[in-house]
Amino acid sequence: MSFHSMWAELLPIGRSSASGGYRRFAWTGADADCRAWFREQAQARGLSYEVDRNGNQWAWLGDPAAGDAVVTGSHLDSVPEGGAFDGPLGVVSSFAALDELRARGTTLDKPLAVVNFGDEEGARFGLACVGSRLTAGALTREAAHRLTDADGITLPRAMEAAGLDPDAIGADPERLDRIGAFVELHVEQGRALDLSGDAVGIASAIWPHGRWRFDFRGEANHAGTTRLVDRRDPMLSYADTVLAARREAELAGAVATFGKIAVEPNGVNAIPSLVRGWLDSRAADQATLDTVVGGIEKAAREYAERHGVDLDVVRESFTPVVEFDHALRDELARILGKDTVRADAGPAVPVLGTGAGHDAGILSGRVPTAMLFVRNPTGVSHSPAEHAAEDDCLAGVTALADVLEGLARR
Ligand code: GLV
Ligand code: MN
Ligand code: MN
Repeated sequence: MSFHSMWAELLPIGRSSASGGYRRFAWTGADADCRAWFREQAQARGLSYEVDRNGNQWAWLGDPAAGDAVVTGSHLDSVPEGGAFDGPLGVVSSFAALDELRARGTTLDKPLAVVNFGDEEGARFGLACVGSRLTAGALTREAAHRLTDADGITLPRAMEAAGLDPDAIGADPERLDRIGAFVELHVEQGRALDLSGDAVGIASAIWPHGRWRFDFRGEANHAGTTRLVDRRDPMLSYADTVLAARREAELAGAVATFGKIAVEPNGVNAIPSLVRGWLDSRAADQATLDTVVGGIEKAAREYAERHGVDLDVVRESFTPVVEFDHALRDELARILGKDTVRADAGPAVPVLGTGAGHDAGILSGRVPTAMLFVRNPTGVSHSPAEHAAEDDCLAGVTALADVLEGLARR
């Protein structure tokens, strides 16, 4: 099946007809439909299909037990109102690259696998990369069992409803020991490739990033009868904190975003008793990130005190800086740059860092890992406007096929 047909099959799953945005949250019906699609792709190609104990899907060409496998893939879940490319581009390109290798008649000396990691975006349970974190031992079973969605459904109950055994989840070192190299292809979530005029690039590093929950607790009261001076309104402290986050990030050359909020009792004519805001912050290095988040928290505490509001700050997740394996990165550059000479004498294939998190970043602590990026002309991501031109997607497939071929031959 061609890239185009695979893409067309996946496109309607979990898409809102009103907005064009996707809601493919982990262990929901839309996710199950994406996962069924993955299984069909594996079976149609005669690949051996398995779901590991953390719910990640694998499609194997060759014997996994042989070791030193070359693995490629990404994820199929989405953020709320996400785009079509973040995740699925990597999975579809992986199957298409495998088809290209078969069409080339390439003999592979190592086993090859395509993987779909579960719950990458963390849209439902708040923690990103749950499937790869569990597998890599970066998230314990006990901590995973405590994750809860907005409706109070716990992760283990959601996994159980999807047919998995939540008591079996956890570190899977034997599986990772089989992998010699992992390569994730991903739509670029910025405009570096558009600006350099390249269809494909190689990742250098992922910024350290994390999510912090700010709980501002005040006092619910009548919006019409409570004098302003008598109020303990947590919305005021929250609003001031949002502005402080912007200021701190600007000062440090970092990014900080409050993109999710929960309000209680959430009534138009009631002063809130609770405003819960989630901060996502990222910076090029750890010290800068610490300064930014520390500055935001300090400001938030001052505002809370001023408004008679209590504040709790909880770090819900954190991923340290990821520097992708240099030897593998150089190998990719060699494979992809082999017959390219650029007029400006720059590197044949651009090497770029990113502020976005990926399963590849989690795996990089355990196996040699690399990433390929495909040009995104507007840079927009985590939005229905996310896009890559089909020609660039096909260039990505060819690049991935070249890389897999280069890595899977001795
Ligand atoms: C995932 O896409 C993230 O960077 O949050
Ligand atoms: Mn994403
Ligand atoms: Mn992604």
